Amino acid sequence: MIEPDLRAAADLTKALALNGPDAALQLYRDWAATYDSTFAAGMEYNLPAHVARAFLAAKGEGPVLDVGAGTGLLAQSLRDMGLTDPIDGLDFSTEMLARAAEKNLYRRLIHADVTKPLPVRRHYNGITSSGTFTSGHVGPAAFGPMLDIALPNALFSLSVNQRVWTNMGFDTALKTLEQSNHIHDLQRIEVQVYGTAAQAIDPDHANDRAWIVLFRAT
Ligand SMILES: C[S@@+](CC[C@H](N)C(=O)[O-])C[C@H]1O[C@@H](n2cnc3c(N)ncnc32)[C@H](O)[C@@H]1O
Repeated sequence: MIEPDLRAAADLTKALALNGPDAALQLYRDWAATYDSTFAAGMEYNLPAHVARAFLAAKGEGPVLDVGAGTGLLAQSLRDMGLTDPIDGLDFSTEMLARAAEKNLYRRLIHADVTKPLPVRRHYNGITSSGTFTSGHVGPAAFGPMLDIALPNALFSLSVNQRVWTNMGFDTALKTLEQSNHIHDLQRIEVQVYGTAAQAIDPDHANDRAWIVLFRAT
């Protein structure tokens, strides 16, 4: 029998307890090399595939900006599901972007903090993100910068971990954006973040669920 690699549980626990950008940058600097093999493969991390599937089912098109691109798992899912349009990846960890670069999935990699004004022009038809809106990570402060670089009617497909849906204010932020007519066609789909292999590695997070939030920019 193959023993589960328990490093993934320790890394994930640290990630969900991050208390600011400096801690996040340090964690991802150390995690980048093993993120795909211990965490994503070991835990059967299905979230990038769920986000990609929802984006394509809602007729999403490129150019796409993948926010918190990490090592490129969401772009890989979009390619595997048939998207041939350009995908740019944005992340504030140079080490995670370096792993993504090795895979030749992205047209361009952008080193930036999504909670600040973004160094790109408004030309995206699609904005995707998996795993970045979660505990210790990014809150609704990213909605303004993302909407600023989205074309009218651009499709957003973003995962939000249910642990932070209310306590980080995603519910009220999205309702406000909808009521003020900044976004439309808001819907959400409930998904399981990990597969059954996660039970043996990290029972505290194995049953985590997320919302895939879909909406269009106005
Ligand atoms: C859990 S990983 C998800 C990576 C990838 N999307 C996936 O699903 O595997 C979260 C990513 O968000 C990035 N990140 C966290 N805060 C950020 C911020 N404020 N601006 C840009 N990227 C950020 C981290 O560097 C990390 O690569």
